[in-house]
Amino acid sequence: MNICKTVEDVRALSTAWHKEGKTIGLVPTMGYLHDGHASLMDIAHRHADKIIVSVFVNPTQFGPNEDLDKYPRDFERDQAVCEAHGVDAIFYPTPQLMYAPDFSTWVHEDSLSQLMCGQSRPIHFRGVCTVCTKLFNISLCDVAVFGKKDAQQALIIRRMVRDLNMPLQIVLAPLVREADGLAMSSRNKYLSAEEHQRALSISKGIFAAQKRYEEGERNADALKRILTESIQKGEGQIDYVVLMDQDTLRPIEQIDRPALLACAAFFGKTRLIDNVFLE
Ligand code: PAF
Repeated sequence: MNICKTVEDVRALSTAWHKEGKTIGLVPTMGYLHDGHASLMDIAHRHADKIIVSVFVNPTQFGPNEDLDKYPRDFERDQAVCEAHGVDAIFYPTPQLMYAPDFSTWVHEDSLSQLMCGQSRPIHFRGVCTVCTKLFNISLCDVAVFGKKDAQQALIIRRMVRDLNMPLQIVLAPLVREADGLAMSSRNKYLSAEEHQRALSISKGIFAAQKRYEEGERNADALKRILTESIQKGEGQIDYVVLMDQDTLRPIEQIDRPALLACAAFFGKTRLIDNVFLE
């Protein structure tokens, strides 16, 4: 497995692979890899011949009061996970390499980014779109895989790729849960045992709402209420519970098209997100 620390290193590999007629799949990550990331790598193998994983805690997607400095990092462990999942190369740049001191060009998706996480994290998706554009350009990937756990991010990236005619395919991969139901996230590490137990109220609410949907409930308020009440029972502090059109991310009242039930809530200082695609 190659560890590439410069743009030139990755480009040399990608160019050689393309010359051999191989396709390249990118799995963008911020490291501290868990089974959810591993599943993205496995899915990437189904869509491309060579797999690159980027490990980069992207500073521009963190707001001033967010957890950039204490975001968990463990590159040795990340290497082992990538090795075990047949990854061909890791791109592991420094912030200085990715952002010149006078960096001044941004990619900003203007519609889907306004809602949900965009309301409490105003610069977040500008940072995500910008870094993903850079990673696509650096890796020369043909396919990139994003998890449905970060549903809004995945839908924004898909929109950006369509709007800017970027020459790659975006694959959305299923959300992966811990055995007890909690959606996998690097941030789960911040939860105390007691907060973890209470945070299960999110997945319980998601499962209960999904069951009601499968039984025929199509009223958005009814499904949102199930999730809200469950999180409240777990004493989570709700940031949002929304039911949106999957394409526009605008709220809907009756589910008559592919929809997304999504939430964000704090347990202690940790902000967790979860969702279910209703289609
Ligand atoms: O989902 C993430 O880990 C990040 O937002 C991403 C896509 C790697 C961009 O920094």
